[in-house]
Amino acid sequence: MSDIARLTPILAIETSCDDTACAILDAHGALLGESVLSQEDHAALGGVVPELAARAHLKALPELVELTLQRAGLELKDIALFAATTGPGLIGGLIVGSSYAKGLAMACGKPFMGINHIEGHILTPRLPAALRPDETAPSFPYLALLVSGGHCQCIAVEDTGQYRRLGGTIDDSAGEAFDKVAKMLGLGWPGGPALEKLAQEGNPQAYSLPRPLKGRPGCDFSFSGLKTAVSRHIEPYGRDALPRQVAADLAASFQQAVTDVMADRILNALAMVPQVTSLVVAGGVAANTVLRQRLEDIAHQHGITFLAPPLRLCTDNAAMIGWAALERLKQGEIPNDIALAPRPRWPLNERQPYQPQPSPDMPSSGHASLMEPSA
Ligand code: KG4
Ligand code: ZN
Repeated sequence: MSDIARLTPILAIETSCDDTACAILDAHGALLGESVLSQEDHAALGGVVPELAARAHLKALPELVELTLQRAGLELKDIALFAATTGPGLIGGLIVGSSYAKGLAMACGKPFMGINHIEGHILTPRLPAALRPDETAPSFPYLALLVSGGHCQCIAVEDTGQYRRLGGTIDDSAGEAFDKVAKMLGLGWPGGPALEKLAQEGNPQAYSLPRPLKGRPGCDFSFSGLKTAVSRHIEPYGRDALPRQVAADLAASFQQAVTDVMADRILNALAMVPQVTSLVVAGGVAANTVLRQRLEDIAHQHGITFLAPPLRLCTDNAAMIGWAALERLKQGEIPNDIALAPRPRWPLNERQPYQPQPSPDMPSSGHASLMEPSA
């Protein structure tokens, strides 16, 4: 029996932010079962409260795992490998999810694999369920743009376990910028979708807003200056007296500025990795149709494929964690991460590519060098 057949199905858990998610994948990456519970209590508080999120994960996990097993028509004893996000993210949630998965692994006498959340996002376009019937999985190397509430990075995905971070935000993430501007405009949280909707009524040229870092070398991002510029236009009215048309024009102008900046940064990133054949986008902000269309146009102008997973696989989910585990198994990694501590910060480029370990005393693990005391 091959290692992949022996180590599947995989049950994966994701708890790094405010979504509690579980998924079960077979040896081919087919999704046998999937469940996601998006915590709703945070909306009234205007953002994710880490302590509440961790408690909610703990409460939700037993039922969610049971439900996912039922959906897959499997029992716990059928699972061959347990995987969970071990970073980066909110430490409370990471501890809850990874400890739960480790506990199941130990109870069942099966191995555990810790997965980097960002690795999950950027490998998702290769997941069979993420592809439309007319799409084929991107081959390495490809360029990934991860734009979510927590992340904003350009990454050259050279192979499984081999990632080159080309640039990232020096202040807010793209999602944070959308959420903060939406809040200034009196919209709810998370504000990205509401801002996009309002922008449809506005004129994107109405306000001349800055395009931070546009025209500069590299592909770093910055959004704080743009956010401040929007707030200056709101000040004369006061938030509660902001005329709807002004709010709509500001939303449209802000969205246009973000899109222009993203386009500029992606063009630089493509120049840094001219050998890529696909541009892929992931994270909640990838739901923005204006941004998505602009990225798609750039990809087509460059003669490369554009891929954006369906929204449920673009935002936080456990299928991406199971898929990253499977990609690692395909590389020959032997899962052995029971002692791997979760890390709130875990830059992808600190991860060691998997190296087979010949010593029988030290079973192979791609993460051995990352072990460290709990953060
Ligand atoms: O990936 P995600 O669901 O969660 C994490 O942050 O990990 O991303 C959520 C972010 C929020 O900041 C939300 O406002 C933003 O994605 N977002 C959008 C849109 N839909 C969601 N931003 C702009 N336009 C949208 N249509
Ligand atoms: Zn995420």
